[in-house]
Amino acid sequence: MSAERLEKKKTIDLRKKHIGPSCKIFFSHDPIKIVRAKGQYMYDEKGQRYLDCINNVAHVGHCHPDVVKAGAQQMEVLNTNTRFLHDNLVLFAQKLQATLPDKLCVCYFVNSGSEANDLALRLAWQYTGNRDVITLENAYHGHVSSLIDISPYKFHQLSDAEQSQFVHVAPSPDVYRGKYRADHPDPAAAYADEVGNIIDHVHKKGRKVAAFIAESLQSCGGQVIPPAGYFQQVAERVRGAGGVFIADEVQVGFGRVGSHFWAFQLQGEDFVPDIVTMGKPIGNGHPMSCVVTSREVAEAFTSSGMEYFNTFGGNPVSCAIGLAVLDVIEKEDLRGNALRVGGHLSVLLEELKDKHPLLGDVRGRGLFVGVELVKDRVKLTPATAEAQEVIYRLKEQHILLSADGPHRNVLKFKPPLCFTAEDAELVVGKIDQILTELETALGLKPSETPTAETESGKRKASRDENGHVELTHDDEGRRQQTKPKKRVRT
Ligand SMILES: Cc1ncc(COP(=O)(O)O)c(C=O)c1O
Repeated sequence: MSAERLEKKKTIDLRKKHIGPSCKIFFSHDPIKIVRAKGQYMYDEKGQRYLDCINNVAHVGHCHPDVVKAGAQQMEVLNTNTRFLHDNLVLFAQKLQATLPDKLCVCYFVNSGSEANDLALRLAWQYTGNRDVITLENAYHGHVSSLIDISPYKFHQLSDAEQSQFVHVAPSPDVYRGKYRADHPDPAAAYADEVGNIIDHVHKKGRKVAAFIAESLQSCGGQVIPPAGYFQQVAERVRGAGGVFIADEVQVGFGRVGSHFWAFQLQGEDFVPDIVTMGKPIGNGHPMSCVVTSREVAEAFTSSGMEYFNTFGGNPVSCAIGLAVLDVIEKEDLRGNALRVGGHLSVLLEELKDKHPLLGDVRGRGLFVGVELVKDRVKLTPATAEAQEVIYRLKEQHILLSADGPHRNVLKFKPPLCFTAEDAELVVGKIDQILTELETALGLKPSETPTAETESGKRKASRDENGHVELTHDDEGRRQQTKPKKRVRT
């Protein structure tokens, strides 16, 4: 098949004419036309190669031959729904279950992360008989109505009247910028107490909590790593109130964190969610997803008497692809690679901290790494425009990275797991150069910027000073003053 069917300008014109304008594009003033991809590289229509540091969907590498072959072979034979017996469905469920704690043994296959989270809510409502949901500040769980309701990342743009009265927002367990920080004696307990307070508030209103939902590591929310023990303490409170714990692994699952297959396992062996949702990497680009839960929750869902039917979820092609993805992760030791290369990447970035005052925090697990840029390490003033500048300049050097978080000042690494140590060195070298240039232009010197660690008292006092006007690129590539609010996601 020819890689490019239309001239780039024609593609842009047709897109403007026929595609919904709220579907945003990366680098809108000069978008990239990608025509093929392989491993951790993407290629534009001129054959220019880009190093991909952002596509966590292409988990085992873009267009991995084993995955492509598994899908194509199954498509040649049969694709149908789960009302017929098929071995791919049960074999995939069995292999997926083997990566999880025993309690999580019943699968529902669906087609997107949003579908998975929507179904998770239905399971929770049915199992508990309760209605209210607790979510985290800055969370994103999907684009369907039920999930916009529980996604502050999106609904903060709505008026109070448009927000659901059944949804309650707990502080993000962010020990760098959040309410309780690394200098707090027990941030896990303090953040869990906040959830406890919300539960009390719900009870006072005469209602009950159905679920607490959180990503095991917040991604769009700014690559947040919750303090160890937080999930256990939240789960205790939520279960005590009759609710369930939903872990959203749509972005962070399938070995990305390196040390474990699932990011919720970072919290310790003693923590097992009641429901886990999976998406993006599960099909390496093929649209599929899954909800896994306990037998108890699944039986309660069945007891409503309503059949669950999903035309495409769990079809033989998707399951063949899912099986191939799990095989490749194992065969190529991609979890081990995430641990080794992710560790190397974090060390290299950490080393830049002494040199670059703009670099406020480096945090991550495996190949899920965030670099938070700040203009002031004490006030934690977000360096939003600078983060955008880094992204744009990297793009000019054919490296794809993105910035996210509530202030869009966190550089997000979530590359395909075949990312190499050389790739990590290349991108960190470029970031080093770009930060040097930016800091020179801004007149920033390392010695002039005390670290947050040494000035934690002052930093606490200025915690609320961060929602301010920033410089950012507009669509024409000019600069404008604007409050950061629009985001482009993968
Ligand atoms: C954490 C998380 N959950 C759910 C979703 C929704 O997944 P999808 O876009 O496949 O519907 C996303 C998408 O970005 C996500 O980041």
